[in-house]
Formats: sequence, structure tokens, C-alpha cells
Amino acid sequence: MLTNLKAQPADKILALMAKFREDPRPTKIDLGVGVYKNAEGVTPVMRAVKAAEKRILGEQESKSYVALAGDPAYADAMIGLVLGDAVARDRIAAAATPGGTGAVRQAFELIKMVSPDARVFVSNPTWPNHVSILGYVGLEHVPYRYFDTETRAVDFDGMMADLAQANAGDVVLLHGCCHNPTGANLNLIQWQAVVDLINEKGLFAMIDIAYQGFGDGLDEDAAATRLVASSIKECLIAGSCSKNFGIYRERTGILMAISEEAGNTPVTQQNLNYLNRQNYSFPPDHGARVVTTILNDPELRADWAAELEEVRLGMLQLRKDLAAELQRLSGSDRFGFIAEHRGMFSQIGTTPDLVEKLRVDNGIYMVGDSRMNIAGLNAQTIPILAKAIVDAGI
Ligand code: LMR
Repeated sequence: MLTNLKAQPADKILALMAKFREDPRPTKIDLGVGVYKNAEGVTPVMRAVKAAEKRILGEQESKSYVALAGDPAYADAMIGLVLGDAVARDRIAAAATPGGTGAVRQAFELIKMVSPDARVFVSNPTWPNHVSILGYVGLEHVPYRYFDTETRAVDFDGMMADLAQANAGDVVLLHGCCHNPTGANLNLIQWQAVVDLINEKGLFAMIDIAYQGFGDGLDEDAAATRLVASSIKECLIAGSCSKNFGIYRERTGILMAISEEAGNTPVTQQNLNYLNRQNYSFPPDHGARVVTTILNDPELRADWAAELEEVRLGMLQLRKDLAAELQRLSGSDRFGFIAEHRGMFSQIGTTPDLVEKLRVDNGIYMVGDSRMNIAGLNAQTIPILAKAIVDAGI
């Protein structure tokens, strides 16, 4: 049987990680995978996470199973973090998942189970794994225009024109904040227009929010998700704690499913539990417990939010410094978009050939679609990157 297996296409982001690791050049710069790094190139364990882990280690009496949807206290804490009080709690079913990817996968499976012919409209570009998992679960995807490669801002007219082609029951997948890979985001007026279109056409919304706190602040980054969730009848939200709690390898995510009527929540919850049971049974607990401990303890929560804010402001400064250096070297304002983008990424909008040239000639690693991880930069590497970009004629 195994001899009949065919090789699978490599994941672009993970393949790049491997290439970076193999590159012997000490001057290499990693702007690939979406992992936060400080100025020393380290992905630190956040202070509040360390403190919560110590507490758990001291107090935990059992490692027995918790529940198919994970600890309800985790769901409550995450619903509070993402949705605030935008939606009545009794309309929300939620299940812990292995990371944000787990939540995305469970959401797609839920859609496939209940509406196998629904088409899922995805931004062009989107996180490549969205498209890959959709194909794997057997759902059709339809790209909608999103990024204007001239202005490097959102092509809002194109997006709305493409979404207008969706039929009732089709799904619109939206990035709640910090769009991955482009870094270009809708403003709240544009979000309202998307909400109106969704309601007008009877579409189903799914939001992937993996970078809350990396853009404009914890509440600011959740504003669009809260607007959508409170203005439409039903939606799915895939949340992740990988980035904003820095607990990538603990695989800590959540899927929230909002029903129109509270009366539908128990059966929705039962379906989320069922899907967990089919795919991996009980979701991982450690990361979820760390997050719950932090969010429910005022001191730990304040310390976590303060450290996250330092991270956010640091990335914003790197954006400003890179844009300024590019302006200085190129004598043009065409890179101003880097300071306007938000989140961990900016897509600089060049060809795969030039991205490859930067890698080969300069040891600069960014994803082939010209997405760079801003957090991979520091004061020493900004001038190197800026010079390489300008020298390459980008
Ligand atoms: C990314 O986009 O680089 C991250 O979300 C990591 C991943 O799993 O792709």
C-alpha cells in the first residue's frame, strides 16, 4: 500500500524554514515563517506564560482527560478576549483545538458536513494552508481580489465585485486582522460594507483571527470580528493563541460557532464535540490552561498585555524604520505602504524571481509571494534588507 503513495506538494512556508536552516551563511536573515522574534532573534517565552506554567506545575493534581471541547473556562476566557460582549454567550458554541490551524480545519469540516456544495471565497492571496486544507476536505474555493499590487493596499472595489458573485449559502473567509500574507487590512467602514453584502446576499461568514494584538491593539484588532459577529446571523471564528501568547508548539486554538438563536447552540456544540472526537478526541490542554490562567488573573493578564504591547510597538517601529531607510535609499515614497501595513507581515509585491535572487545573493529569506516577516528584522538588518531591495530594482 505505502509504495502507492505519491509525493505531496511541499508547503511553501515550511520548505523555506528548512532551506534557511541549511544555509551556512552567518549573515542570513530569516523573514519567512510567522514566528515572532525579538531583536536578538529569539522567540521568547512570555513572562506571564512562564509564571502561569510555574503555577500550573505546582497546583495541577491530575492529567486526566478534561472534556471533548476542552475546559469550558478556556472557552469563556477566549470568547471574552476575542468577542468581548459583542454576542450573547448563549449563542456561542466553542471547542478547543490544536492551534489555529486545528480550528480552521474543524471549521471547514463543519461546513463540509452541513453544506458540502458551499463554495468558500478566499482572499487572493491568503494563507496558503487555507487553500490546501479546503482542497483536502473537498470544498471548492473561489479566490476574491484583495491586494492591489500597485498600491499594496486592499483592492476594495475588486473584493466587493468578486464577493457579489457569491450565492446564498456560500462562505466568505475573512482575516479578522493583520492579513496574512499581505499586511493590508480593511478599515471599519469597509468592514461594514462587507457585512452589508453578506447580509444582503445571505452568505455565511468565517473569520480567521490569528494575530490579535499584533496590529493596532487587542481590542482594536478584534473590532472587525466583533462587528461581523454582532451584525450577521451566524458565523464561525477560528482563533489562535500561538502568536499573541507565543505558545506556538503548545498548539492552542479555538473554534467558535455563533448561531442565530440560542436554542440552536446545544446541537452546534454537540457537533463541535463530535468533530473533535473524530479527529483527535480530546484537544491539547496545557496551552489552553496557561491562557486561561493568564486571562483570569488580573496581574498576569496585565503583564501579558503589557509584553504583547511591547512586541506590537517594536514591530511598528521596525516598519517605520524600514520604510524610512527605503525612502532614503530609493529617493521615492513607493515603500510607504510598509509603515501602513499591520501585523507580522508585509507583502512587498515583487516577483518570485526577485525573491529568489534576494535569497541566493543576499541570504534574505522571504516567502515566494514576497511576504516578509517584519519581526525577523532588527536595527542591524534593516539597512542590509533595504539596500538589497533597492539594488535588486524592486
Ligand atoms: C505563517 O503563516 O507563517 C504561520 O501561520 C505559520 C504557519 O503555520 O504557516
